[in-house]
Amino acid sequence: METAEEVVIDPREFRNCLGRFATGVTIITTEVDGQVHGMTANGFMSVSLEPPLVLISVGNKARLNSFLPQSKSYGVSILSEQHEQFSRHFAGRPVEGLAIPIVKKKGVPVLEGVAACLVARVVDIHPAGDHTLYIGQVEYLETSETRPLLFFAGKYRMLDPEPKHPMEAWIDHELFFFDPIGGL
Ligand SMILES: Cc1cc2nc3c(=O)[nH]c(=O)nc-3n(C[C@H](O)[C@H](O)[C@H](O)COP(=O)(O)O)c2cc1C
Repeated sequence: METAEEVVIDPREFRNCLGRFATGVTIITTEVDGQVHGMTANGFMSVSLEPPLVLISVGNKARLNSFLPQSKSYGVSILSEQHEQFSRHFAGRPVEGLAIPIVKKKGVPVLEGVAACLVARVVDIHPAGDHTLYIGQVEYLETSETRPLLFFAGKYRMLDPEPKHPMEAWIDHELFFFDPIGGL
């Protein structure tokens, strides 16, 4: 039988490589005994449309990991570009005096005024290396038109402003230089 060759992957190179995958930024929230817990995460993905499933990947040392098996549900708040402070706050760098607009949807805490939010009930838990994967069935969602906060190569980013269609840019240019009086 063929055995898989042991390949050593350098952890720094692995991080750099994964950092080239541009993502949004979410805050995962849950509630246990009346206490709301939140964690910044970009380890979030869609899994299935029918039924509607999503997945989050939570580090085994993260406090959230001890709450989720109890609460069995989580909120995913997809941050808008003005929410970098929320991301830092829930990533172990508490921002003194930061107002966190928590609201409950289907009894699960989420952040208000974000780009989009979902509430999911945990339907499957998979240990995976130093993380645990929580598959959740979506029971509530809300979407807005605000621009998302992005994370790429270890830094927060924003989308470029919408590029204009070439024809629109050409018309703007022509109108700017149009002289209705005829060369005066
Ligand atoms: C942009 C960004 C994305 C992150 N994504 C994840 C993630 O997907 N899973 C995870 O366990 N930690 C992730 N982290 C790290 C946690 O937010 C951080 O370790 C947090 O402090 C853990 O929560 P705790 O302090 O309550 O234990 C991310 C941090 C940042 C800044």
